[in-house]
Amino acid sequence: MMRITELAKPHIRNLEPYQGGKPIEELERELGIQNAIKLASNECPHPPSERVLQALREALAGVHRYPDGGSFYLRRALAEHLETGVESLFLGAGSDEILEILVKCFLGPGDEAVFAWPSFAMYPIVTQGVGATAVKVPLDPQLVVDVKALVGAVTERTRLLFLSNPNNPTGTSIGAADLAGLLREVPEHVIVVNDEAYLDYVRREDFPDSLACLEDRSTFVTLRTFSKVYGLAGLRLGYAVGDPELVGLLERARHPFNVNLLAQVAGCAALEDPEHVSRIRRMTHAGLDQLECAFDEIGLAYTKSDANFILVKVGSCAAEIHAGLQRAGVITRRMDAFGLQDRLRITVGLPEENKRLIEALRQELGR
Ligand SMILES: Cc1ncc(COP(=O)(O)O)c(C=O)c1O
Repeated sequence: MMRITELAKPHIRNLEPYQGGKPIEELERELGIQNAIKLASNECPHPPSERVLQALREALAGVHRYPDGGSFYLRRALAEHLETGVESLFLGAGSDEILEILVKCFLGPGDEAVFAWPSFAMYPIVTQGVGATAVKVPLDPQLVVDVKALVGAVTERTRLLFLSNPNNPTGTSIGAADLAGLLREVPEHVIVVNDEAYLDYVRREDFPDSLACLEDRSTFVTLRTFSKVYGLAGLRLGYAVGDPELVGLLERARHPFNVNLLAQVAGCAALEDPEHVSRIRRMTHAGLDQLECAFDEIGLAYTKSDANFILVKVGSCAAEIHAGLQRAGVITRRMDAFGLQDRLRITVGLPEENKRLIEALRQELGR
């Protein structure tokens, strides 16, 4: 019998599938437990704002129609929100889809994409998925993107450079001076993809104003998402801000209805509720402080985070601790695939979820 795998393109055959956080239902089914919590996928633990939920309820009866393929109202609202032109905006089904469309436009066999490592797991997947070469540049010893090394890894074959700022899975970020240096040093033929999925949680004052940098360089694009602080991960909505010429190329390469009807409605309503965003930001910071304080008490080292998750060093027994936490109904993320075997990545949850994680962790460590 023909083995179907042999028919597939070698670069697809050799891909390591994306390892997501274990779904709550799966863990509950496996262990026969209830009330499991997931602190593994950097989602927002709070539902979207009431304003968003109301808009969604009103839109539900219209889903027998295709959505507006140009997302007219959402683009207009977003342009107003960002004080930019609609022609500089591209919308996608999450930033994941935009990464894939960028790759489709600019990468092929023989081309290279450069990015720091460990970083977002989708960068190597989308790159290798089109037969291009992923060039991984180690983070510095503090687990911060090493800008000099990143610049040094660029060659004539480099077409894309992915920068996760703040960086997933470390939560570290680079400041305005470093981004300016990177944009100065990286040759113009390289499109710098500045992925700001966690922008809304950043507290450092010198964080780059990336939209201002767009004016100086046409091969620079910023990606953002509604999956985090807006709490819309399940609807899949993200956007890119870049040069209109670049946006025009992405528009050609996308599916006609890539942003679904409910995502468009929810996005518009979410932008009208800045108080909700501020509340989520405040609660996330309080949750980070709660976790840091507990790690200090327990004596665990961690990496200061500018995002809604934190990387904590639990030691060589990380796999056992991760399994023990799961038995207690707490799902966290192992870091083996990133070469950080002694750490776990923990997403900030609701205050009572954070407390449960801390108690389960103490239990596992016997501290
Ligand atoms: C750095 C980074 N970029 C992009 C994404 C994808 O976001 P979206 O849900 O918009 O596809 C994530 C998701 O966790 C992320 O960590």
